[in-house]
Amino acid sequence: MSRLFSTLKLRGLEFRNRIFVSPMCQYSATDGFPAPWHMVHLGSRAVGGAGLVMTEATAVTPEGRISPQDLGIWSDAHARALAPVAQFIADQGAVPGIQLAHAGRKASTAAPWRGGHPLATGEGGWRPLAPSALPFMSGHPLPEAVAESDMDRVVMQFRDAARRSLDAGFKVAELHMAHGYLLHEFLSPLSNRREDQYGGTLGNRMRLPLRVAAAVRDVWPRELPVFVRISASDWVDGGWDVAQSVEFVRHLKAAGIDFIDCSSGGLVPDARIAAGPGFQTPFATQVRREADIPTGAVGFITAPFQAEQIVATGLADAVLLARELLRDPYWPLHAARDLGADIPWPVQYDRAKPR
Ligand SMILES: Cc1cc2nc3c(=O)[nH]c(=O)nc-3n(C[C@H](O)[C@H](O)[C@H](O)COP(=O)(O)O)c2cc1C
Repeated sequence: MSRLFSTLKLRGLEFRNRIFVSPMCQYSATDGFPAPWHMVHLGSRAVGGAGLVMTEATAVTPEGRISPQDLGIWSDAHARALAPVAQFIADQGAVPGIQLAHAGRKASTAAPWRGGHPLATGEGGWRPLAPSALPFMSGHPLPEAVAESDMDRVVMQFRDAARRSLDAGFKVAELHMAHGYLLHEFLSPLSNRREDQYGGTLGNRMRLPLRVAAAVRDVWPRELPVFVRISASDWVDGGWDVAQSVEFVRHLKAAGIDFIDCSSGGLVPDARIAAGPGFQTPFATQVRREADIPTGAVGFITAPFQAEQIVATGLADAVLLARELLRDPYWPLHAARDLGADIPWPVQYDRAKPR
């Protein structure tokens, strides 16, 4: 019996298996609105058998976009445009999820295939926001520090985006608190040098992310789970680390967060990251054990038996795959065959199912 293909239940929501599509920016939206690309891209991964199909980082406010081509959900019209995508995913038996994001000081950059450089205002860019006026790296614009009086606005932007996501039909909201974007920037002492109640001690650095988590939990139905993606480590001495992550996750759990998606890095450009197969899985294992909460492992998970081992031995409750699912959107269907799990194929494709 494959554990990877066993169901997972979080609150009242059941996932058909433990293979989740990791959020992936497509840089293909216009003014935050999805294109046919998003339907085909996300839809084919639902057809391919994943248990959860998550959108890319979807901005809660226009200035929270990484690039001008990011998805957004800062208006009801955006939610209406995303609704058919969520519906199609659900129709295939996958859970539709949305990653809610604010890019902080890493906002306003060109799409990778346009160079990825910071965009000046004349090129369609804008001045990014951050906990402190510290640029991501030299050559990046000086961000504007969020005023203490503006914290309520940030919390409301996430809460309103969550409410709209629900209207759009998403069943999982994942809060992006990783990869050096706004909420991670508040957590890490390397990017947060504030001297008010939002900076300094760990309790103060956690304050805004925890307020966001509580506000989203408040509007998200009791029977549906809220995920948080964290960077468990900055991979830099003196930065955010696993011990702080565990403490933070204990607070997230108390705030009603149900699942921690354990990534790492992204805060500073000069981190030395020992990337390789399963390199972040130990973070998922440690957070799961020490904070007693379901976790997802992500990063260089590519082989069916590797994914099976992670779930079957209790290293994590689910796996999130990104690049491997770009190579093969039908990876779950193929992995099931390798692992001897007999799962249904989409009826339209049933004649192609190996028997
Ligand atoms: C094209 C692309 C876009 C990505 N965009 C996002 C994103 O929007 N949000 C996020 O949290 N991670 C993003 N990531 C990171 C992935 O979700 C994942 O954590 C990372 O690629 C490691 O997993 P992998 O080895 O399976 O690719 C992106 C990765 C890729 C390749």
